[in-house]
Amino acid sequence: MNKENIELLIKELLEKIDNSTTTEELNNIRVEYTGKKGKITELSNNMKNIPKESKKEAGILLTKLRNTFQDNYDKKLKEVKEIELNKKLEKDKIDITLPSTKIKRGSKHPMSLTIERVEDLFVSMGYDVVSGPELETDEYCFERLNLPKGHPARDMQDSFYITEENLLRTQTSSVQARYMMNMEEKKPIRIIVPGKTYRREDDATHSPQFSQIEGLVIDKKENNISLADLKGTLEIFAKEMLGDNLELRFRPSYFPFTEPSYEVDVTCFKCGGKGCNLCKQTGWIEVFAAGIVHPNVLKMNGYDPEEWGGFAFGPGWDRITMFRYGIPDIRLMYQNDIRFLQQFDRKDSD
Ligand code: DAH
Repeated sequence: MNKENIELLIKELLEKIDNSTTTEELNNIRVEYTGKKGKITELSNNMKNIPKESKKEAGILLTKLRNTFQDNYDKKLKEVKEIELNKKLEKDKIDITLPSTKIKRGSKHPMSLTIERVEDLFVSMGYDVVSGPELETDEYCFERLNLPKGHPARDMQDSFYITEENLLRTQTSSVQARYMMNMEEKKPIRIIVPGKTYRREDDATHSPQFSQIEGLVIDKKENNISLADLKGTLEIFAKEMLGDNLELRFRPSYFPFTEPSYEVDVTCFKCGGKGCNLCKQTGWIEVFAAGIVHPNVLKMNGYDPEEWGGFAFGPGWDRITMFRYGIPDIRLMYQNDIRFLQQFDRKDSD
């Protein structure tokens, strides 16, 4: 080992370090000089063969060589790493101006849109919104509504019986009886009861599970709750839900829990009463069933008919929804088909 050799080696390694542009190249240089069989390592191993008198000088040269290598290597490694990192950052850059992936939003079911509006309307008129059990007793579903066992009007409501005495309720009218019976101290009543109902029927306009909105108003006789109040209430209800330019028509009907009883039609909101396929050319569409609460119902549920009176009504919640949104088949509302439901992903227009 002499001075010239070392200087040459230093020159050579500095050039190599200088020319390298990647950590990989630098790593190869490190192995070449300081690896197990590296040039600097070999020189170190050779020290033992150097004659005593030259050892000191050789040691100084070797240290210089080693330090020169290490300093320059470290400096270059830092530089190259930084360049590589910047390149990577440049490549992986996130473009924050790109539109994000859309988060899917659910939409309200058309039945919910309808009932929100109905509830707002009736709450604004001082009604309470109440509910009752869907698994009901024969007593509350029929008997306390003046429909004793064997009554022919029961035939209209083909039912799902669970036991002799328990069934899936066929009408929300059951809550009329429950609510009256639950009143410990008899007080005036103003309620609507939106809820599910069940009958053994299944076609485009009937589903085994459907929904009704019962209404019940009871007050002291001296407050004279009359047919006029029922008419006024149903007119407000129909106009709010189906459009302002409507007329109502009361047709006499029969329900065991009301006397007199009515089926209430509104002028067809599609053709305005001229006659079309929706109203089957009649100009009218049946929306409500209603009447003046039968004295027997009051009596059976703890309200003295000499003292109390009132009216009741019961439109189909699905039916109103179908009219509002032009839905042709009731079954669409219970199938949970996303293609149907997402069509209601917008605000109701007033
Ligand atoms: N519950 C009856 C039905 O499902 C509808 C009905 C008629 C409800 C007259 C009423 C009413 O409250 O007064 O057919």
